[in-house]
Amino acid sequence: MTYQELLEKARARMAPQCRVCKECNGVVCKGEIPGTGGKGSGAAFKNCIEFLSSVKIKMDTIYENKGQDTSFLMFGKKFKYPMFVAPIGGMNLNYNGAITEEEYDDAVVFGALNAGVAAFTGDGPNDSLFLDSLPIIKKAGGIAVPTVKPWKNNNVIEKVRLLEKADAMAFAMDIDSAGLINLALAGKPVSAKSVEELSEITASTKVPFIVKGIMTVEGAQKALEAGAYGIVVSSHGGRVLEHAPATCSMLPEIRKSVGNKLKIFVDGGIRSGADVFKAIALGADAVLIGRPYVIAAFGGGSEGVELYTEKIGAELRDIMVMTGCKNLKDITIDKIIL
Ligand SMILES: Cc1cc2nc3c(=O)[nH]c(=O)nc-3n(C[C@H](O)[C@H](O)[C@H](O)COP(=O)(O)O)c2cc1C
Repeated sequence: MTYQELLEKARARMAPQCRVCKECNGVVCKGEIPGTGGKGSGAAFKNCIEFLSSVKIKMDTIYENKGQDTSFLMFGKKFKYPMFVAPIGGMNLNYNGAITEEEYDDAVVFGALNAGVAAFTGDGPNDSLFLDSLPIIKKAGGIAVPTVKPWKNNNVIEKVRLLEKADAMAFAMDIDSAGLINLALAGKPVSAKSVEELSEITASTKVPFIVKGIMTVEGAQKALEAGAYGIVVSSHGGRVLEHAPATCSMLPEIRKSVGNKLKIFVDGGIRSGADVFKAIALGADAVLIGRPYVIAAFGGGSEGVELYTEKIGAELRDIMVMTGCKNLKDITIDKIIL
């Protein structure tokens, strides 16, 4: 299967919710929630795309060539690329249900695993969405990151016990779901979390905890105070706050404020190896990619997920060749122009 064939198959299978546009940029799907778009005018989604395309990369090909190593260490494991599948839930609600939640999780967990990376999995109004991912994660040796919604803490901690049994290497919480229309419509009690509530969750387990949906230095500091292992700088794909800035534009100040005390992931509009390079140069340890992986799964199942990972990974390696970066540590802010 070529990437072009994958896209054609996905286009036929995903209509009408996702049009599989030439560039997945939030323009056509703006305001479509449920659906795949950003909130309202789609500005928060589009800001991510526009910011990343405004960042330029400095070229330098005079160096001693020692090859390019794209690998990185996280959760005590080695991954081939600094790249994860973002958690996406709601195959029926947001897409057309052509694949089930379980089929989707299976495709992303095993596709990512086969490509040497890993997937975050999602959560939603039906408990089954989270619960059905766990046997898949267990079968994958725990190489995945289940993501829990900000339910009441006792409910979250019950889910932590279950993900521990599935040997999950880490888990996340999309705290920004406190503003999700989908959940409000379904009458599910999610809400903002205090530092004390987040601390109770980190204290309840040895599994590394990642707080997803941080957009400010203050938010990053609160996650640190709560004992989080890492954060995802994310605006939930622009789906929760219409006027959020570009996620990657917040990275330098967040990195400066937390130093190396937190692992920093970022998502929102990462669409190429060049975008991965820019995100790392701006201060991220790794990126998450969301909507394009859904397209890959609809278009080619786990094989599609593997193919898409290799495509982005090859693009990253190519940029490293053109910028004289032999490993990810060489990708620093002086390699880009803001
Ligand atoms: C349809 C849809 C469903 C999503 N479901 C979840 C979810 O269950 N949990 C979560 O943490 N994030 C969820 N997200 C947000 C993604 O994880 C990610 O933050 C976002 O899509 C940004 O990346 P992208 O621009 O690469 O898509 C969802 C996003 C979309 C578009």
